[in-house]
Amino acid sequence: MFGSKTQSLQQRALKVLPLGVNSNFRFWGEGITPYVEKAKGAHLWDVDGKKYIDYRMAFGPIILGHAYDEVDQKVIEEIQKGVLFAMTGELEVVVAEMIVEMAPAIEMVRFACSGTEATMHAIRVARAYTGRELILKFEGNYHGFHDHTLWSTYAPAEAYGNRRSPIPVPASSGIPKSMREFIITLPFNDFEGFERVMRSYGDQIAAVITEPCQGNCAAINPQDGFLELIRKQTEEHGCVFILDEVKTGFRIANGGAQEYYGIKPDLATYAKALGNGYPVAAFGGKKEIMSIIGHGVAQGGTYTNNKPGVAAAFATLSLLKSKPILKTIEKRGQRLMDGLKEIFAENDIPAVFTGYPAMFSFSLGVEAVSCQRDWATSDHDLYLSLAEKAIKRGVMPDYDSREPWFMCYEHTDADVDETLNVYAEIVKEVKK
Ligand SMILES: Cc1ncc(COP(=O)(O)O)c(C=O)c1O
Repeated sequence: MFGSKTQSLQQRALKVLPLGVNSNFRFWGEGITPYVEKAKGAHLWDVDGKKYIDYRMAFGPIILGHAYDEVDQKVIEEIQKGVLFAMTGELEVVVAEMIVEMAPAIEMVRFACSGTEATMHAIRVARAYTGRELILKFEGNYHGFHDHTLWSTYAPAEAYGNRRSPIPVPASSGIPKSMREFIITLPFNDFEGFERVMRSYGDQIAAVITEPCQGNCAAINPQDGFLELIRKQTEEHGCVFILDEVKTGFRIANGGAQEYYGIKPDLATYAKALGNGYPVAAFGGKKEIMSIIGHGVAQGGTYTNNKPGVAAAFATLSLLKSKPILKTIEKRGQRLMDGLKEIFAENDIPAVFTGYPAMFSFSLGVEAVSCQRDWATSDHDLYLSLAEKAIKRGVMPDYDSREPWFMCYEHTDADVDETLNVYAEIVKEVKK
């Protein structure tokens, strides 16, 4: 799939990096893993110099475009004044004020450097606030690499057990068995199961954490009323509702899923689009809950206000506030989704589209998808075969249909047209 420089770089990398990469998700297999030279706007170039229309967008952070000049200029201006002080500066206060203004449920925030950190801190705060230890999460949702929620992110559907009594499955060796005691898992969109679990355990649950849509499983949307049910039940049982907006925040609306669905969680977590690719994350929410930080509740980190991240967040949020960026992305994303839908329909391939124009996916060979168990029955071989053919022709979605297609401001109508032409061709090819 990739050229000779890619292959020789992978061989070098395999000697010094486990799997030849710095995050397991970047390893597609020996001989079929891309290595990147550079990226600009909606495009990237591999080390062999081949150009791609990028729909992975680094798994979501790139909301404006790669190497976006106004963001990079602000970062350069700020880092020339020093990058880290272990003291607080004005810019991070300004960015905190911007998040509070843009996200409906956020009254106070603290910064972190990655989504993993943001969710880990939010969970600590929720446990400290409630004095409880149990966490409820949904199968197929991913909240980062810490042991608290790295359960039932992805496993063969059989491993999850019966949907009435799901088995939490650790996603890695090395997670202490004792952590199992603190986690309850359920299929996403399982209204009845959620109400049942809340009846039995609600008063022991510190937090219900969920992505608003399954950003790590085909961007499966919440069914009408599901997020509202979580809001209502968590309130009734005194649990903290953590909405993990690491993928949806500053992407599906300026105020994220909170604005999109009109839902107010107690805490929310951000990373990715907050900094257009720079290392910045945040968690925040109700003042009453956030104010316990520093009063017997620990949170911090050497790099939590790193200048590149904070400067990038400032520039990114300023642009989102001043221009109709997300509306533009939505229009182009909708065209792409509609075009792909038409291609699958013309070729009699059942395809369920999920997500939003700015981050969407499609599951092939199925009629409906409401949780990871449904997604698991879709035609992965067909999805993968199409992704491989698209990548060969210079269109790069992720090869795994769990990972949504991400749009950025610099995807043009011409990029959309080219993508549709490629998919029209390759879908015909696989039908032969
Ligand atoms: C919803 C969600 N939460 C948390 C994380 C973890 O973020 P990070 O990779 O920045 O640690 C991710 C990463 O993909 C995510 O999608």
